[in-house]
Amino acid sequence: MTVSDPITARAAELRALLHRYGHEYYVLDAPTVPDAEYDRLFRELEALEAAHPELKTVDSPTLRVGGKPLPQFQPVQHAVPMLSIRTETDVTAAGALAFDASVRKELALGDAGAPVQYIAELKFDGLAISLRYEQGVLIRAATRGDGVTGEDVTQNIRTIRQIPLRLHGEAPPLLEVRGEVYMRRDDFDAMNEKQLAAGNKAFVNPRNAAAGAVRQLDSTITATRPLSFFAYGVGELAGWISEPQTHSGLLDALDGFGLPVCAERAQAQGGAGLVTFHDRVAGLRADLPFDIDGVVYKVDALALQRELGFRSREPRWAVAHKFPAQEALTTVEAIDVQVGRTGAITPVARLAPVFVGGVTVTNATLHNEDEVRRKDVRVGDTVIVRRAGDVIPEVVGVVLERRPMVAEPGADLFSPAQRPQYAPFALPAACPVCGSHVVREEGETIARCSGGLFCSAQRKEAIRHFAGRRMMDIEGLGERYIDNLVELEYVHGVADLYRLTLDDLLEMKRRADERDGVVAETVKVGQIASKWAENLIEGIAASKRPLLARLLFALGIRHVGESTAKTLADWFGDLALIRKAPAPLLRVLPDVGATVADSIADFFAEPKNQQALDALLAAGVEPADTHAPSTGWREKLDVAELYAVLGIAKLTPLRSRQLAELLPTPAALAAADIAGLNGLPADVLASLQAWLAVDGHRGMLNELDAQRIALLASLPAQAEVAGVLAGKTLVLTGTLPTLSRDEAQALIEAAGGKVSGSVSKKTDYVVAGEAAGSKLVKAESLGVAVLDEAGLRALLGEVEV
Ligand code: IVH
Repeated sequence: MTVSDPITARAAELRALLHRYGHEYYVLDAPTVPDAEYDRLFRELEALEAAHPELKTVDSPTLRVGGKPLPQFQPVQHAVPMLSIRTETDVTAAGALAFDASVRKELALGDAGAPVQYIAELKFDGLAISLRYEQGVLIRAATRGDGVTGEDVTQNIRTIRQIPLRLHGEAPPLLEVRGEVYMRRDDFDAMNEKQLAAGNKAFVNPRNAAAGAVRQLDSTITATRPLSFFAYGVGELAGWISEPQTHSGLLDALDGFGLPVCAERAQAQGGAGLVTFHDRVAGLRADLPFDIDGVVYKVDALALQRELGFRSREPRWAVAHKFPAQEALTTVEAIDVQVGRTGAITPVARLAPVFVGGVTVTNATLHNEDEVRRKDVRVGDTVIVRRAGDVIPEVVGVVLERRPMVAEPGADLFSPAQRPQYAPFALPAACPVCGSHVVREEGETIARCSGGLFCSAQRKEAIRHFAGRRMMDIEGLGERYIDNLVELEYVHGVADLYRLTLDDLLEMKRRADERDGVVAETVKVGQIASKWAENLIEGIAASKRPLLARLLFALGIRHVGESTAKTLADWFGDLALIRKAPAPLLRVLPDVGATVADSIADFFAEPKNQQALDALLAAGVEPADTHAPSTGWREKLDVAELYAVLGIAKLTPLRSRQLAELLPTPAALAAADIAGLNGLPADVLASLQAWLAVDGHRGMLNELDAQRIALLASLPAQAEVAGVLAGKTLVLTGTLPTLSRDEAQALIEAAGGKVSGSVSKKTDYVVAGEAAGSKLVKAESLGVAVLDEAGLRALLGEVEV
């Protein structure tokens, strides 16, 4: 049977549509049709191909789901060998300069003269792949193997949605693309979560997961693995009429053919240009959605590449410049638990020191009990430790083959049964610091010490938080001093800090030294060093007039971070109002949800906390910027809005408004006889009645009303003049020449602007300084205006500096 033309045409049309939609979705990240539409067309093509197998083509999108399992992979000879590149092991900028020097030397360019043009790329941490396109159609994909012979993994590679099965535009008749198959970190994490949920073992890292998926004999399994791809070069080529003259031109062309090419690439002028790229990417690395282990520099002009040629199977025109490894192997010496400010108990692995991510690591967090169990980390284990960017080092996984084993009791030479030498980890039942019960509430992942401020570990952490740089910023109050002040009982609560005298501190030091068996240097020479103590007393005194937001943040209220503290300070202006505010009043503020509002209200409802705050004020701590509440309250104090956040079932915004018309104040609601109300549906009334019957609710409404009236009364009569940046959102990135981040933020906020942490279409300006990273890239890609410090100052109406 021959297939009628309309059916052939429809199949071709479906293939073209699916190619286009797939490319938009997977490569451009900009889908133009809903997923359901893609699925519908996909199923239609599947049905056509099932009915007419002769319609199947080697570029059909239906191949993306994988095919019959293979008995083994077929060998593939690479016409152009897949070589590797030399690795520059000097991880400093000097590595880039050394490469430039060697290129100049080979080309006999001397020291002076024009810089060599390079292209700099990322070094992706995945698996090298060759993709052979004939007449624009992907006909074969192969691994690198030994560089000369690889394995045919076409079926598997076709499942990678980012890889076009047919190239766009005028592709040359023969084009072999080289690139890297990798797995994004978020895809990896999500996949591992699924693996575990299905009772399978988790993968150790994205590279192993990607390599394993590509070398799967059953391509339907590969199809379920979230693989990605970046093209970085070419192999065999024929008939390319407009063949580019530079490597950067080549990459642009590959991009034009619909292949994913990483946008994070740049042409660079000479060694200095390479250093700039290296530094920029080092700053960007932790924010990239995938792993890289360095950057790659290539001489851009293909003619020069040919001139430079190869040496012992490595090109002279390219080099890989590594970054310090983010992962390393070490052994677990012990598993301890730490007690945090909120009592959270965190298991911590004590490690044999290992150099990773640029520092020597001796501890790594194990997050929580479930994590330790899931990863089954035990004492004696060899583990993979990861430290990316500034994040806390973590244990990624265990190398099970190296777990120390002992013979089972009763085992002999003929039955060499073995069991792990150490037992699985279990949380202690009592807090290791204060002995209080450790509790883990239902549904919670975090176990907590129930000792509260009775637990000295929690007290220490609370003081450490209070004194922190972004909180009260008490200079000189280091960790050791806090430990000693608490352990030797000079300080119970934060207010005690402000009562410390020079004599207290010197005595504390003497007692601590005695306890630790240390003879202070200065005592040996017969004098008492007291400079540190004087400095500390000064540092404490200097912290007495904090900004209200910093003081609020310093209190360590659960769920109150820097930005919520700032919101509270901006809106209320006065601590006295905040400490009395009922939850609904907090709840109407921007970005304050029910959990946060309740947590703040609960904190201040606790007499101990109020006492601690009174003690602080009595010790002379006083916010420096107390001011009248924001005029924005006029809108927020709308009674209908307040009703809507009370959490009363069935009281929708519409019903809240109707209720506010009937009962225009919370006090009126508190006193109302609901049964006698007209104009609201019976179920709403019933729900209201039930809510009012709850102990404390009527009282809270009265309190809410009193606070509402007090706030309204304290509002400034006239609206203040709006700043020049009113309503504008700015993002800061990189280091500005003269302004610190805090200073820049303060200037922007003083002008009425808002500072946000991430760039989006809603961002009005990005203020970029030196070593600006991904935020700048994102701003440029979204077309967001970018300013430098001078530009910011100009915007603020200051004289340019
Ligand atoms: S170019 C002849 N560019 O690094 C030059 N390789 O030894 C061929 N790699 O396993 C390689 N990112 O798969 C090149 N942007 C990049 C790369 C890159 C990662 C891998 C490659 C190979 C190794 C090079």
